[in-house]
Amino acid sequence: MILLRNIGLLVTCRPDSGQNNLHAIPHASLVWSAGRIVWAGPDDQVPATLGTLVMEDAGGRMVVPGLVDCHTHLAFGGWRADEFARRVRGESYAEIARSGGGILSTVRATRAAGEAVLAARADEMLTRMMALGVTTVEAKSGYGLTVADELMLLRVYQQLAARGPVRVVPTVLGAHTVPPEFASDRAGYLRLLTEELLPRVAAMELARYCDAFVEQGAFTVEEARQVFRAASSLGMRAKLHADQLTSSGGAELAADVGAVSADHLEHVSDAGIAAMAAAGVVAVSLPIASLYLRQPPLPARKLLDAGVPVAVATDFNPGSAPSYHLPLAMTLACTTQGMTPAEALKGATIVAARAIGEEANIGSLEEGKAADFAVIDAPDVDHWLYHFRPNACVRTVIGGRTVWRGSE
Ligand code: NIG
Ligand code: FE
Repeated sequence: MILLRNIGLLVTCRPDSGQNNLHAIPHASLVWSAGRIVWAGPDDQVPATLGTLVMEDAGGRMVVPGLVDCHTHLAFGGWRADEFARRVRGESYAEIARSGGGILSTVRATRAAGEAVLAARADEMLTRMMALGVTTVEAKSGYGLTVADELMLLRVYQQLAARGPVRVVPTVLGAHTVPPEFASDRAGYLRLLTEELLPRVAAMELARYCDAFVEQGAFTVEEARQVFRAASSLGMRAKLHADQLTSSGGAELAADVGAVSADHLEHVSDAGIAAMAAAGVVAVSLPIASLYLRQPPLPARKLLDAGVPVAVATDFNPGSAPSYHLPLAMTLACTTQGMTPAEALKGATIVAARAIGEEANIGSLEEGKAADFAVIDAPDVDHWLYHFRPNACVRTVIGGRTVWRGSE
């Protein structure tokens, strides 16, 4: 049993009483055993009944739950710096996609890279994310777009999840865009997804969730509904790329199909917000993507006021969000969307855990949960997200094991 004492501020992120309430305890201790939290509370109240403890000292620093990046496209081939330069000059994301670039350019590079290279690159990214305090990452396929290549991406995630230490939650995103082989046969691609890919993914237990990009130039609401119907019959719940570039009924569809989350939402309608609130769908804000594509910010205040919890994630991918820096996304959620630092932290911990169905296991520092946490060199959450730095995380712990230490 290990006791970490002298924590300046233990930010528990307990889920009750609203997204702005962090339930932080000053001068605190945290006790864990066999990877799980046994006790969390004030330094002067550690129960004597806990038995023999190995003592560690947090040096007065802040401890937060391990960050949960609940929306990434972790494994991909190549990069797209050329498109970044084109967009800066005024070409739009949709125009670049129509000219054969965009997602399809990464599909070509991903198919060419092969499984070993994709796994090594994704592993490297996970290591860098871990150094920022990230302990769980949702990871989507979607750059293969053949049965074999989608399965390859999901096998990469399966390997990384099995190896650890970062927890990886896989999502199948076969419905990312229609691949060139099916450019004149959309119905054929939908049959491939619903009759071949999804059944095989389910049979091999390669994905927990099924995502679809609902947008002009990607999939219509009715097409995505077909995909989600098949996924649901196979035991996979829906997640959506919704209302990112245009208001296209994505949020309403998320509510309709009982999705666990609807992500992006820069152009969500008032009806979509109301529908999400009624259906209990979590919103996922991806402010790095909004910034890079110069989209308006997700209306976080409207969503929160309507009772929709708002998670914050990176959307890490080579096109719209070429950064895995979750604390940057949290700072941007504050500056561009009007979320408070407290809301942004809960958005990247307990609310993000809910967006991947893991809220019973991770996302807050409470008895019984996994001992996943980050030691942050800042006096409190306001200061951490205000004073943006390359990295304020000095130690990352997953399942009770220290997996990263920075210079203190
Ligand atoms: O979440 N919008 C669709 N998918 C990704 C971008 C993928 C890409 O550009 O490669 C996103 O923004
Ligand atoms: Fe995305």
